[in-house]
Amino acid sequence: MQWSGSVVLVSGGASGLGEGVARAAAAGGAAGVLVVDVNGERASVLAKELGDHVIAVPTDVRDTDAVERAVAAAETTFGRLDVTACCAGVGFVHRVMDREGTPMNIDDYRRVIDINLNGTFDIVRRSASLMSRNQPDADSQRGVIVMTASLAAYDGQAGQSAYSASKGGIVGMTLPLARDLAPVGIRVMTIAPGIMDTPIYEFLPRETFEVLSKLPLNPRRMGTAQEFAHLVGAIVENPYLNGEVIRLDAGVRLPPK
Ligand SMILES: NC(=O)c1ccc[n+]([C@@H]2O[C@H](COP(=O)([O-])OP(=O)(O)OC[C@H]3O[C@@H](n4cnc5c(N)ncnc54)[C@H](O)[C@@H]3O)[C@@H](O)[C@H]2O)c1
Repeated sequence: MQWSGSVVLVSGGASGLGEGVARAAAAGGAAGVLVVDVNGERASVLAKELGDHVIAVPTDVRDTDAVERAVAAAETTFGRLDVTACCAGVGFVHRVMDREGTPMNIDDYRRVIDINLNGTFDIVRRSASLMSRNQPDADSQRGVIVMTASLAAYDGQAGQSAYSASKGGIVGMTLPLARDLAPVGIRVMTIAPGIMDTPIYEFLPRETFEVLSKLPLNPRRMGTAQEFAHLVGAIVENPYLNGEVIRLDAGVRLPPK
């Protein structure tokens, strides 16, 4: 499969890594790109910039009816769906209890799991269902799904229990999803990015951001949305990648805090 001629849905496509994928797909000649994002305004601006074959679909991935409509838009607008990249997500840092022993708010924990993990699963199940109706290619392939985890799935720092749980869930479901969907020729891969230069760190103090950006081993800098999109493109193109998680992190291993 190639970007060229494919219909591509990107959740979280209005910013950061997802925006990088939407731009790469459009530049690579995708027949249609759906920018599915809770930030409908930003999604519309991007869609307008990228051209007629790119549409904004304002969607909160926590709203299952909205997710159903967003994926259906691929069929009604472009006739099918070939590639889904799940990039919608939120960052969150809070220790399980504070210095006074007050436990973390359970609603904060649930919100992170709901967006990052449950929202990803909902996009995946709807996408797979639509892709399964595609005509198979010469290699019996009908579609590709790429999910976004994080290195926090493996070496989450203090304060990352909720975020790491949401990303660990994505790592854990990668293989069973690939196994579920193998009979219909849909591949499922996950990328676990390291420290990537996107607006997700806007909530962090500047000093923390500066420290984080120096952690990668080599090259000693943050990754870019282009580097992420390049790997998504490689996964789309290489039919022998399936059921695996790839760390895209310049060899970084996060310290405890
Ligand atoms: N930037 C990093 O260093 C990094 C590292 C590891 C993993 N990730 C993961 O990559 C993904 C993309 O993050 P990013 O860095 O590009 O951040 P970002 O904030 O730039 O983009 C995230 C996008 O997701 C959208 N979004 C948030 N909640 C949503 C919801 N409920 N429904 C629909 N869309 C929603 C936002 O509006 C935004 O456009 C996230 O899952 C994040 O956890 C990022």
